[in-house]
Amino acid sequence: MISVVVLISGSGSNLLSLLKKSENPLYPAKIVAVGSDLDAPGLEHAELYEVDTFVVRPELFSSKEDWAKTLLANVQHHQPDLVVLAGFMKILPANFVSALKGKLINIHPSLLPDFKGAHAVRDALAAGVTKTGVTIHYVDEGVDTGEIIVQTEVDIEPGDTESILHERIKSVEHELLGSTIEQLAYKQKPVLR
Ligand code: GRF
Repeated sequence: MISVVVLISGSGSNLLSLLKKSENPLYPAKIVAVGSDLDAPGLEHAELYEVDTFVVRPELFSSKEDWAKTLLANVQHHQPDLVVLAGFMKILPANFVSALKGKLINIHPSLLPDFKGAHAVRDALAAGVTKTGVTIHYVDEGVDTGEIIVQTEVDIEPGDTESILHERIKSVEHELLGSTIEQLAYKQKPVLR
């Protein structure tokens, strides 16, 4: 059984899906805490499942590094084997990333390296491509540049809006994130280095 800390900034649908999966005693990962940079709506899911939460607001710190140091201390307090960025919208500085190297993964709504950044779904639609997808990758010091663990394609349908497409992508994300964490927990891939 591995311990997982999830960081979110938004609605937390990926978090909720993981919380549901980890209710099954056979699921090999337990969510031990959920953190955010703001009062994210998704924190309610953690509270419902009686999982510890913490919020570390960047605006209360004089530098990004100081903020990240406190965020890291909150994460490490829970001694996680794995830290999952599931819609965490702040870029993490090097002091945070290097301390968790090999244990820090992100889920991104495109087939990286295409459409990096905060508007991946919108950018894929604007580019007129017929396929986009989901990528789960290790986090490095860049933005959406870390080593790719797994990817799944999602078709773009005629008439898709950003929100319709993003919902379709999220339903793929929920399954892919759950199964990837399961594989990492069983070390079917050399992931927890
Ligand atoms: C997901 O699409 C994820 O790939 C991206 O942010 C979104 C988070 O959605 N990084 P939710 O908060 O899990 O619903």
